[in-house]
Amino acid sequence: MTSTAGPTRWALIAGSSSGFGEAVARELAKEGLNIFGVHFDRRSAMDRVNEVIAALKATGRDVVFFNINAADSAKRAEALDQMQAHWKELGGEHYIKVFLHSVAFGSLKPYVSDTPEDEITQAQMEMTVDVMGCNLVYWIQELMRRKMLGKGSRIYAMTSAGGHSVIPSYGAVSAAKAVLESNIRQLAYELMPHGITANAIQAGITLTAALAKIPGSDKLADFASARNPGGRLTTPQDIAEAIAALMSDKTHWMTGNTIRVDGGEDIVT
Ligand SMILES: NC(=O)c1ccc[n+]([C@@H]2O[C@H](COP(=O)([O-])OP(=O)(O)OC[C@H]3O[C@@H](n4cnc5c(N)ncnc54)[C@H](O)[C@@H]3O)[C@@H](O)[C@H]2O)c1
Repeated sequence: MTSTAGPTRWALIAGSSSGFGEAVARELAKEGLNIFGVHFDRRSAMDRVNEVIAALKATGRDVVFFNINAADSAKRAEALDQMQAHWKELGGEHYIKVFLHSVAFGSLKPYVSDTPEDEITQAQMEMTVDVMGCNLVYWIQELMRRKMLGKGSRIYAMTSAGGHSVIPSYGAVSAAKAVLESNIRQLAYELMPHGITANAIQAGITLTAALAKIPGSDKLADFASARNPGGRLTTPQDIAEAIAALMSDKTHWMTGNTIRVDGGEDIVT
C-alpha cells in the first residue's frame, strides 16, 4: 500500500521489539506506515528482534530499529539525528504520524519487607518513575523541537490498571503509570493547539515478557481471565487494532484520555 497524498507517515515506537510495541509495529506497517523502532535488548535476544524487523520489512515498509536505552538522552539525540538523516536521504516530506511509548523497564520490589535488602531503594523508585512515567515527555520535547511531529500526529503511551489500583510488587510501576497518565494530560493540553493528540492506552493483563517478570503473575493472569467479561486475557493484537483504529483523522478531538482496551476487565470489581 502506498501512502495517501501528503508527507510520508512513520510510526516511532519505543519498545518495538516485543509485546504491545511489536504488535503495534506489525499492524501499523500493514496500514502503510514506515517504522522507526526503539528497543533495549541483549545480544542473546537479537535473533528474535531480527525476525521482527524482517517481518516488518516483508510488508514493503521502510523499517529502522535502534537498540538503545530510551532514557539515555545522548543516545536518544543520536537516534533522532539518524532518523532525520534517513528522511533527508529518502527526500520528500516525512512526519511521525504515531508515537507510541511502550517501554517496560522498572523495579518490581515491595516497599516494605522483613528483609530490608528486599525493599525498593530510592534509586530504583526514581529510575522506574523516570523511565516508565517521564521519559515519554523528553521524546516528545525533542520531536517537537525537530518538527518531526505535526498536525494529525497521535501520541499514545501504555498504562495499566495499576495507575489507579494496587497490584502486589507493582508499587513503583503503579506510581510511574499515575505519572504517565498525568504527563499525557499535560501533553494533550499543550499540543492540542498544534493539532496533535495524546492519549494513554490502558491495556488489560496481557501475557508478555514484562508480565512474566511480575512476582505472582500467573495468579494475576488467572484472576483477570476469570473476571474479564470477554472471557479471556487481552492480547497485544487487541491493542494494535485499537491504535490502528484510533489513529484515524476522525479522532482529532479525542485527547488527554486514558482509554481502556481491556474487554471490560477494569470495570468489573
Ligand atoms: N503486559 C501487561 O499485562 C501490560 C498491561 C498494561 C500495560 N502494560 C505496559 O505496556 C508497556 C509494554 O509492556 P509489554 O508488556 O509489551 O512488555 P515487553 O517486555 O513485551 O516489551 C517491552 C519493550 O520495551 C523495550 N525496552 C525495555 N526497556 C527499554 C529501555 N530502557 N529503552 C528502550 N526500550 C526498552 C524492550 O526492548 C521491549 O521492546 C509497559 O509500559 C507495560 O507497563 C503491560
